[in-house]
Amino acid sequence: MKNTKLIKELNNALSLELRAIILYSHYSAYVQGIHRIHLSAHFNNEATESIGHANIVRSAIVKLGGIAVTERNTLKIKHTKNYVKMLEEAYETEKRAAQCYFEILKKLENFNDDELYDSIESIYFAELRSVEEVRMILSN
Ligand SMILES: [Fe+2]
Repeated sequence: MKNTKLIKELNNALSLELRAIILYSHYSAYVQGIHRIHLSAHFNNEATESIGHANIVRSAIVKLGGIAVTERNTLKIKHTKNYVKMLEEAYETEKRAAQCYFEILKKLENFNDDELYDSIESIYFAELRSVEEVRMILSN
């Protein structure tokens, strides 16, 4: 089946989104200190954004006739109460996601499905914006 490799990559992206949902929800709950005021909401928003991305990717897998994963990527989520460490983990998470969608877009270039390309591209741009946002938060 010609879509097998693409479905596999989309499932990898989905597993990363499922991991991001847990990572951000976890950090939103545990972030401490004065920065909790804004970072708790920020992490919560990122978790919500990841749910949206997961829904789009899952729908794409359904459209291609695949079976969407229900397990998160097994990459360890580091527990911490330190907001800088949380942001560093968020930075790595966003960079990983952006790279993953970049690779999928390359495969979709000759796939002849504009709707699918556009939906993945919109996620890719959102990940790039998140990478830049976390980079700025970590800069001083
Ligand atoms: Fe995402």
